[in-house]
Amino acid sequence: MSSKGLLLNIRLDAERKAEAFRSLFPDRRIVNYGHEDVDDLAGLTYAVVWSHEHGLLARMPDLEVIFSLGAGVDHVLSDPNLPDVPLVRFVDANLTGRMVEWVTLQVLIHLRRQREYDTLQRKREWHELDAPAAHEVRVGIMGLGELGTACLEVLKPLGFQLNGWSRSRKTIAGVTCFSGDSELDSFLGSTDILVSLLPYTAETHGILNRSLFEKLAKDGALGGPVVINAGRGKSQVDTDIVSCLEDGTLTGVSLDVFENEPLAASSPLWGFENVIVTPHMAAVSEANALSNHVANQIRRYEAGEELEHVVEKTRGY
Ligand code: NDP
Ligand code: OXD
Repeated sequence: MSSKGLLLNIRLDAERKAEAFRSLFPDRRIVNYGHEDVDDLAGLTYAVVWSHEHGLLARMPDLEVIFSLGAGVDHVLSDPNLPDVPLVRFVDANLTGRMVEWVTLQVLIHLRRQREYDTLQRKREWHELDAPAAHEVRVGIMGLGELGTACLEVLKPLGFQLNGWSRSRKTIAGVTCFSGDSELDSFLGSTDILVSLLPYTAETHGILNRSLFEKLAKDGALGGPVVINAGRGKSQVDTDIVSCLEDGTLTGVSLDVFENEPLAASSPLWGFENVIVTPHMAAVSEANALSNHVANQIRRYEAGEELEHVVEKTRGY
């Protein structure tokens, strides 16, 4: 048995994920924390976590690397007792592909007014609605990282006019790129469908609020702006989204993430015809993809190679 064990504190679908790790690491101690009694954390070198119990990692005397179960790491960095070891996030084609599917689906639902057709179908009404072609619509993506750029590459051949906004300047063929606070208003003013794939940091806290929505293009072919968020819920102000839907500042919304999850049954967001709510499932971390990614990084690390996808903790993502 290898002396370098793994601790999993992953909450969602924990047993299936633990099984995937056990089959890849048959000769290592695997602790499925929270699902089995554990009295000794010594000898556990690696931790794979999702919204872990704060303070737990600091109690692991032999911890060398932390792996985030997700692409986002806000749930790890919020631990006030985070040990000073490398933090690796989940970057993977399976996860990226799922996010591309979700974002493309939402963009097309709003473009083709599918929610209105759903209502007409329930009423058994045969009635055609006007809809612009993709090339008449401007999609703007906030966050041009792994996920944002992959979504742009799939939206591009559909013909949309594409904009992107990030912290540092990017050059992406066929995309008008904006960067930093000074170019945010220009980006918003030329965007009809806003997609946020931003990480949650001090800078992105509450960024999707009324004042930002009011800067989106009002003259677009969809008749009003649409907002889609699959980044993080605490980057949005749910009450502002509701009031902007009520007064027509926004004409459509798709949300996979919320300020508080799960979304309360009492939230008005559930009730709008032009709002699509999904339960933080846009891009799940599939058990085999996750365990293979961790195994690959552990192999590199133990062979003396550099870890990949290491988070710059001071930057927050
Ligand atoms: P990356 O780190 O690859 O990309 C993040 C992007 O956001 C970068 O382009 C970065 O700019 C930009 N950014 C960060 N802060 C700011 C800021 N203050 N102003 C402008 N731009 C900023 O992340 P991923 O693409 O892999 O993932 C993005 C997020 O998606 C995750 O952090 C997570 O929160 C969310 N997510 C949600 C999932 C779901 O199921 N709903 C699943 C997976 C991820 P720059 O390029 O200059 O660094
Ligand atoms: C992630 C997520 O960060 O699923 O990967 O939210």
